Amino acid sequence: MRLLLSMWTRLHRPPALTGARLCSGARGGPLAAGEETLIRCSSPDLLRALGSQVEVKTAFITEEEEAALLGELEPGLRKKRYEFNHWDDAIHGYRETERERWGEASEQVLSRVRSVAFPEGCSLLGPVHVLDLDKTGYIKPHIDSVKFCGSTIAGLSLLSDSIMRLVREDSKNHWLDLLLPRRSLYILRDQARFSFTHEILKDEESVFDGERVPRQRRISVICRNLPD
Ligand code: OGA
Ligand code: MN
Repeated sequence: MRLLLSMWTRLHRPPALTGARLCSGARGGPLAAGEETLIRCSSPDLLRALGSQVEVKTAFITEEEEAALLGELEPGLRKKRYEFNHWDDAIHGYRETERERWGEASEQVLSRVRSVAFPEGCSLLGPVHVLDLDKTGYIKPHIDSVKFCGSTIAGLSLLSDSIMRLVREDSKNHWLDLLLPRRSLYILRDQARFSFTHEILKDEESVFDGERVPRQRRISVICRNLPD
């Protein structure tokens, strides 16, 4: 049975792909220390306008924390098969699950994610979404359903570096590439979540600022809030 979350993304089909949108490598504006190396953008103005609506936090979790999350997730994931054959899916080469109850080590990580990503008192979606992308898997451009998910999406990347591309839905020459290192956390809020599609590039296209970023199997652990 398909999980609700992937249904949500599927309900919002990505726009037809308009060919490779490789980046020109334009530099972004001022950011928190360290972040400037993780974001490339079509113009410094765009990055300034988005401000804290896009964040990438390197080394958000330790190797031990990553191992704890994987230890909990792997047995369940291993029982599922990767899905490759649904041509109209927003996601290609994936298996997924969602989890409401976590062991202590993982729960500590998730509560840290919640405390940095969401305002206090905000209502969160109970189950955390776990998406396992095969090495050949990728996520096509889409916007998460506004009916089921609120203004903020926060995701941990396990096992692999990857590139997330944001493209303004009504103006495709406005884009950002985020380098998501293994064990980092990304946060998309407000306009970055509602007005830009997001995607995870396939291995062949995984180039950041002219540098190859090999994509291995990647597991993301994604927290979302509920709509207002
Ligand atoms: C999704 C999605 C991003 C990620 O499942 O809707 O965009 O980091 N996932 O896996
Ligand atoms: Mn999404």
